[in-house]
Amino acid sequence: MYASTPTDKPWTVPALAEARREGRKLVMLTCYDAGFARVLDANGADLVLVGDSLGMVVQGQASTLPVTVADIAYHTRCVARGLSRSLLVADLPFQSDADPQRALEASTTLLQAGAAMVKLEGAGHKLEVIAYLVEREIPVCAHLGLTPQSVLRLGGYRVQGRDDAAAEQVRADARAVAEAGAALLVLECVPTPLAAAITAEVGIPTIGIGAGPQCDGQVLVLHDLLGLDSGHRRPKFVKDFLAEGGSVAGAVQAFAAAVREGRFPDATHSYA
Ligand code: KIV
Repeated sequence: MYASTPTDKPWTVPALAEARREGRKLVMLTCYDAGFARVLDANGADLVLVGDSLGMVVQGQASTLPVTVADIAYHTRCVARGLSRSLLVADLPFQSDADPQRALEASTTLLQAGAAMVKLEGAGHKLEVIAYLVEREIPVCAHLGLTPQSVLRLGGYRVQGRDDAAAEQVRADARAVAEAGAALLVLECVPTPLAAAITAEVGIPTIGIGAGPQCDGQVLVLHDLLGLDSGHRRPKFVKDFLAEGGSVAGAVQAFAAAVREGRFPDATHSYA
């Protein structure tokens, strides 16, 4: 049983900001069922995300675009039954957040399925959506940088914010989502200095995935943590913690310890 977290109380949304203020790193993993949820909850995951990555790693789809609200709600209900301590975040899948009213309906479904927060990708017209949800008591996690739901426009899964103009856009978007009321911000596949600058200037906790070690926390897809071959190209930021931990529980503990001690990600798992 994992026993060395700063608090074994159930996580709440305000507690995330408190962790950032106190310099405690946040540990997040994706999860899709109750059995794994129990292991994550007992071994140090502060946040558990029912990500639309389930389209790729569970359903075997080529992208996250086919995932529906019903899919996320089903997996959210399963995961919720396995949690007693971790905060449950659920993704708003492709186009379910296209306008404020649709997003409110989808988010209500996901909160009623057991989520405590919804995650949505992008800024721009999503700023209005974030503010609309937050005003209606729905905590929101924003997601910037590489946003997989934009794969058709981006032409693939590539590092974002590499040149000055692109970096400035991601920074401006980060300030804007925080201003709109997001309580958490996932930064995916951006250079380490950009994620560090955003983390220093936004007032909300940042969670990195391929965004370097200076974020307030880290997230990995569960299948990547366990070294499972998802049939997709393995990005640089992925590390197989099962090899180090020796069991699923050990892998979660190894990831949690490496994040909290600032050992993961290192330069080999980050973009300069
Ligand atoms: O869907 C997902 O798993 C995600 C994480 C990669 C952050 O959005």
